[in-house]
Amino acid sequence: MQALEPFDLILFGATGDLSMRKLLPALYRRHCAQQLPDNGRIVATARSEIDRETFLENVYSNFAQRLDAEELTQDHWHSFAKRLHFVSIDATQPRGFEDLARCLAGREQCTRVFFLAVAPAHFVAICENLEQQQLVTKRSRVVLEKPLGHDLASAQSISERIGAIFAEDAIYRIDHYLGKETVQNLMALRFGNMLFEPLWRRDWVRDVQISVAEQVGVAGRADFYDRTGALRDMVQNHLLQLLCIIAMEPPTSIEADAVRDEKLKVLRALNELSGQSALRDTVRGQYRAGAIAGQPVIGYAEESGVEPGSKTETFVAIRAELANWRWAGVPFYLRTGKRLQERSAEIVVNFRDVPHSIFDVTYGAGHPNRLVIQLQPDEGVRLHMMAKSPGDRMQLRPVALNLDFAEAFQQRQADAYERLLMDVLRGRLTLFMRRDELYAAWSWIEPIFTAWQEAGDAPKPYTAGTWGPAASSALLGRDGASWHEESW
Ligand code: BG6
Repeated sequence: MQALEPFDLILFGATGDLSMRKLLPALYRRHCAQQLPDNGRIVATARSEIDRETFLENVYSNFAQRLDAEELTQDHWHSFAKRLHFVSIDATQPRGFEDLARCLAGREQCTRVFFLAVAPAHFVAICENLEQQQLVTKRSRVVLEKPLGHDLASAQSISERIGAIFAEDAIYRIDHYLGKETVQNLMALRFGNMLFEPLWRRDWVRDVQISVAEQVGVAGRADFYDRTGALRDMVQNHLLQLLCIIAMEPPTSIEADAVRDEKLKVLRALNELSGQSALRDTVRGQYRAGAIAGQPVIGYAEESGVEPGSKTETFVAIRAELANWRWAGVPFYLRTGKRLQERSAEIVVNFRDVPHSIFDVTYGAGHPNRLVIQLQPDEGVRLHMMAKSPGDRMQLRPVALNLDFAEAFQQRQADAYERLLMDVLRGRLTLFMRRDELYAAWSWIEPIFTAWQEAGDAPKPYTAGTWGPAASSALLGRDGASWHEESW
């Protein structure tokens, strides 16, 4: 494994939810695995006027809630804490940046990573202040968390202003779905095996489903979510990135631009959904009160922080197509929602039926092959096929070849952020979005929300704890298809 150069990782928003829940635990785990160099510092920054000791106490009590006792040993904690520094910074004021400059002085030769785990409204101000204090060295990188904009114009404006300060190959746009183990495995599955590639096309594939279902609601982030909605929060980034990996042509190498060029072609091949076609091929929903795992939950409209009469969608289903030789005519169904029946994220490739069956239905035939790539809750791949049931009769029965990653590799599965943070420190851009990809994704999404806005109607209600509005099943029903919701 490539040894890391000494670094300063400057974490903006260090007391925020993402830092406490994901980033600091991820860095801690890599520290415990001895993958961080001795001369690697984490400079936490936040608006709070607290001192380093208080910050360390906060981090420790946060770790105590999230990490197992055997992970959080005193030895590991004390050595990790030595890496942590704290500078209080208000993004709109130069004063904190002057303190930061003092903290970084003399370390210009180190890799410098500015991780902006803050609201995008602060991105430009932070980068401009960094530039003003001459903190952007030749070895600097900036990491941007989604949402990168609200529409194409705002994404362009943020990108251009940050692009004037950081070169494109120093900008790491995070989509944490690309760091998930199964998404990596999807690349391995597709491009490390001969088996699938000949079948990975319109001649053999009937449809592809990408579904990210969550049980959680929006409590705690209603203010952000109500301005955002599922289309911008999940489809514009996570679901489209999964679509790219599943549908792209084999890249010539694993190098960042080789992969990103192919992903970009997928985004550009998406059929435009606007006006009537957007209304016909998409479904918007909003959850009403219901029950999740037997516990009653309130509806979206009742969540605190949601505007009265909000038309924000908490569920989206889309039927998309790709205009290229490999995929023309194959429906790609995308679906995501909050407060759905289960927490499950998966990609399902449904193959066509056999052209002529020698087994009639009384023999149990009639289940086309299906490949299920499961990202959550467990990570694995299942290939469903037909086999003969034991016994004298020629009775067919569906069975699955099951690859469960946890069982197969008997190793702790790293969190997506661990991998992505290490990739930033190593300077590997393959798992990060390029600017043109970001623009292409917004260009496809924008006409959809414009069509919704113009139609002016409210999203369809669905009861919390179900699979979304009935119209979502009807969207697939039109093609004689249905969502993969059961274990077959
Ligand atoms: C985030 C969204 O990007 O992804 C959240 O903003 C969503 O709304 C989350 O809950 C889902 O991520 P994961 O890894 O838990 O599936």
